[in-house]
Amino acid sequence: MEDRPSREAYENVIVFDHPLIQHKLTWIRDRTTGHRAFRALVAQVAGLMVFEATRALLTQPVEVETPLERTVGRRLSARITVVPVLRAGLGMAHGILEVMPEARVGHLGLARDESTLEPRAYLQKLPSDVADGPVLLVDPMLATGGSAVAALTMLKEAGADDVRMMALVASPEGIKRLRDAHPGVPIYAAAVDRELDERGYIVPGLGDAGDRLYGTV
Ligand code: PRP
Ligand code: URA
Repeated sequence: MEDRPSREAYENVIVFDHPLIQHKLTWIRDRTTGHRAFRALVAQVAGLMVFEATRALLTQPVEVETPLERTVGRRLSARITVVPVLRAGLGMAHGILEVMPEARVGHLGLARDESTLEPRAYLQKLPSDVADGPVLLVDPMLATGGSAVAALTMLKEAGADDVRMMALVASPEGIKRLRDAHPGVPIYAAAVDRELDERGYIVPGLGDAGDRLYGTV
């Protein structure tokens, strides 16, 4: 394939080889998995991935009174914002919020035009102080990369500069486009698949993530 990124282009890409994540991802890929199970599995995988994606978040010492004595623990230094790209990103956001219920949620609505494959923005609702803490941008599919590049541009225009991107399945083309447009943004993915087909779908992939999540196939 022509547009495969160089080895260097994968430097900031973290792919999860954890058996639980791969087990669940295989059920997500399976065409016979219905929307109810699909939704649950996407949330579970995102909840597992978030442990690694948040590993470098800063904490600060705080005093806490246990039932036995006073001690020092740690709490996150800044408020985290989870930003799903609608619609499909909502499925991952639900799983992340199970683990981090205190996170704020910003929404970016982007729909890919299926003839040009370019995204069209239809909604932006972010906390006004989104720039004050880390942002987890979530979208199950990093295909051409158009939606992720647009989402990151919207976040950067809103002032956010500490952003991590979480996807379930990424394509080599999408990783390259995102890396070229927004170098330095870490990409966390449960899998990097072979390529895009002529319709811009990731293969082998999992199909249309939004349709499979919400039963609109
Ligand atoms: C899908 C997916 C991504 C985008 C990826 O969303 O959830 O947002 O396509 O494709 P790209 O990398 O080529 O931009 P879609 O636009 O189909 O909207 P939906 O989630 O509402 O179905
Ligand atoms: N969007 C999806 O939902 N799936 C793909 O494979 C590509 C874009």
